[in-house]
Amino acid sequence: MRSFAEIPEAVQRLKAEIRDAPRIAVVLGSGLGSFADELGDRLVIPYGSIPHWPASAVIGHEGKLVVGTMAGRRVAALSGRVHAYEGHPLSTVVFAVRVMGLLGARVLILTNAAGGINTAFPQGVLMVIDDHINLLGSNPLVGENDDRLGPRFPDMSEVYSKRLRGIADEAARDHGLTIAHGIYVALLGPSYETPAEIRHLRGIGADAVGMSTVPEAIAARHMGLEVLGISCISNMAAGILPQPLHHAEVMETTARVRGQLVALLKGVIEKA
Ligand code: HPA
Repeated sequence: MRSFAEIPEAVQRLKAEIRDAPRIAVVLGSGLGSFADELGDRLVIPYGSIPHWPASAVIGHEGKLVVGTMAGRRVAALSGRVHAYEGHPLSTVVFAVRVMGLLGARVLILTNAAGGINTAFPQGVLMVIDDHINLLGSNPLVGENDDRLGPRFPDMSEVYSKRLRGIADEAARDHGLTIAHGIYVALLGPSYETPAEIRHLRGIGADAVGMSTVPEAIAARHMGLEVLGISCISNMAAGILPQPLHHAEVMETTARVRGQLVALLKGVIEKA
């Protein structure tokens, strides 16, 4: 559980180390951490050195904050995130995003690996998240509200910024990338879904399923940050193909499309 008082402590520590506060923060999902190597003039801060900052134990998630420059913008890359399925309360899951917001970030880009529910998606395609469905069974804003962060009942009618989604389309066009758009549904995990659950999720309008992103997007909107979400469709969801799902497949696919994701992120950051 992270209390509100712990957020400014982490912010103060980072302010002491970082000269120019990042305006754009990028959370890197499973196997997507290599984006951080693309930043110029890098400062690497291990998660363990930031007060109260939680670290993930999941393979494919590193544990470092990299602050640097890309296309003249100050960018923070969060290589590694924590998930609710690791047993963390959602206030812990969104801690990093809140610290980034109070540090001065105005744009949050969330990336993840997700299972494709929409059978028209080719495996490995990058999907811009147009909206989400929260089936985590909780919400990071449950509990006492701190009015300094945001309102008690924040609007969620445009979680994923229309402006940033448009910029992602432009960046994809500029780089010759074919991207998809769709609805991301978050489930707690860590077991993958059953084929019956996937049929149900398709029926309620989901195109991709994962175990992250939604808490961070909600906390970011609560604070008034502009959010972009990009899923790498790392596998087809359960029951679509005749084989079982493996985390190794997720890692293989994200490794294959990492280059595309980096190109897309660069293109977005140039224009954001
Ligand atoms: N389901 C849930 N989460 C995921 C999947 C999946 O199929 N692939 C990557 N993350």
